[in-house]
Amino acid sequence: MQHCKNVKVTHKEKWLPFAQSFLMTKVFHTIDQLAELIYSHKKEGQTVAFVPTMGALHEGHASLIIEAKKKHPIVVSSIFVNPTQFNDPSDLEKYPRTLEKDTIICREAGLDYLYVPTVHEIYPPSFNTTLDLDLNGLDLVMEGKFRPGHFDGVCQVVKRLLDLVMPTHLYMGQKDFQQFTIIQYMLHQLKIPVELVVIETSREKSGLARSSRNTRLSPAGIKKASVIYRTMSAIKEKQNTLSVPELENYGMKRLKRAGFEPEYVTISDSKTLKAVEKLDGKKSAVLCLAAWLEGVRLIDNILL
Ligand code: PAJ
Repeated sequence: MQHCKNVKVTHKEKWLPFAQSFLMTKVFHTIDQLAELIYSHKKEGQTVAFVPTMGALHEGHASLIIEAKKKHPIVVSSIFVNPTQFNDPSDLEKYPRTLEKDTIICREAGLDYLYVPTVHEIYPPSFNTTLDLDLNGLDLVMEGKFRPGHFDGVCQVVKRLLDLVMPTHLYMGQKDFQQFTIIQYMLHQLKIPVELVVIETSREKSGLARSSRNTRLSPAGIKKASVIYRTMSAIKEKQNTLSVPELENYGMKRLKRAGFEPEYVTISDSKTLKAVEKLDGKKSAVLCLAAWLEGVRLIDNILL
C-alpha cells in the first residue's frame, strides 16, 4: 500500500467508501462480471429490470428505479452519455456529468448494479453497431423533425445496452414520449424479448417535469417553466370545446406570451404519433411540446 503524506482527505472522500459499502450498489465499468451476475440471477428465475440513463440523475430517474425495485428483485441502471444521439456537439459537451452524486441517488433508490461503460465498450472499433432500422415515420415528427438523427442514436445505444445487459424488463419514462414509443417499436420489429414498462412523468410541485436540463435555468426560469404544465393542463381542459389546430395554436401563443420560444405543440395519436384531426375519444391522443427558455430546450407531454 502506498502512503501519501500531506494529502488532505475531504469529509466526502472519507465517508463515501463507507457509505458505498453499506448501501451496496455495485458499480461496473465493464460488462463481463456484471453479465455473469445477471445471467446467474436469471438462471435462478429472477427478473432483471434495466433503467438506461445518461446520468445527471434526479428524482425522475430515481422514480424509475424505485418503481422497478417494487416489481423486480434485481434492478440494473446504466449511465452513458451517448455521443451518437446528440446532433449538437456543444449540447454533448455541456451535458452535466455528476457521477459521484448519481451513485448516491442510485443507492438511495435501492439500485443493485450500476453500469458505467466507456465509449470504447459501447462502440468498439472492431464492429459496426449502427442499426439500419426503418422507424416507420415515428422518427420524422416532433423531436425527430427538430433533432435529425437523434432517434437513430437512441435506438443504436439502447439496442447495444440491451445486448450487453440482457435484462428481462426495460424501464423508461413517459417524460420522453416519442422515445419510449420508438423503443417499443424497435423491440417489436427486432423481436427483442424484453418487456417495456413506462413510468409516468415525475414533476415538481409546480408541475414542471423533472429534467437534467432544469439545472441550467435561473431561479426565475425555473419559476417560469411551470407555465408549460399549466398550458398543457389548460389544453386538456379545453379539448372538448376547441378543434385540434385551435388547441395547438392556443398552446403556441400562450408559451410565446410567457417568454418561451416554442418549437412545436402537437396533438397526435399516442400509438402511431400521426397527426389527429379531431379528438373524438375513440383513440388515445397525446399532446407533446418543445420550447426554449433561457437557451434551454424543454420538452413535456400529457395524455388527452
Ligand atoms: P435520460 O434523459 O437520462 O433519461 C433516462 C430515463 O429517465 C428515460 O427513460 C427518461 O424518459 C426518464 N426520465 C427522465 N426524466 C423523467 C421524469 N421527470 N419522470 C420520469 N422519467 C423521467 O433518455 C435518455 O436518458 C437517453 O435517451 C437514453 C434512453 C438513456 C439513451 O441514451
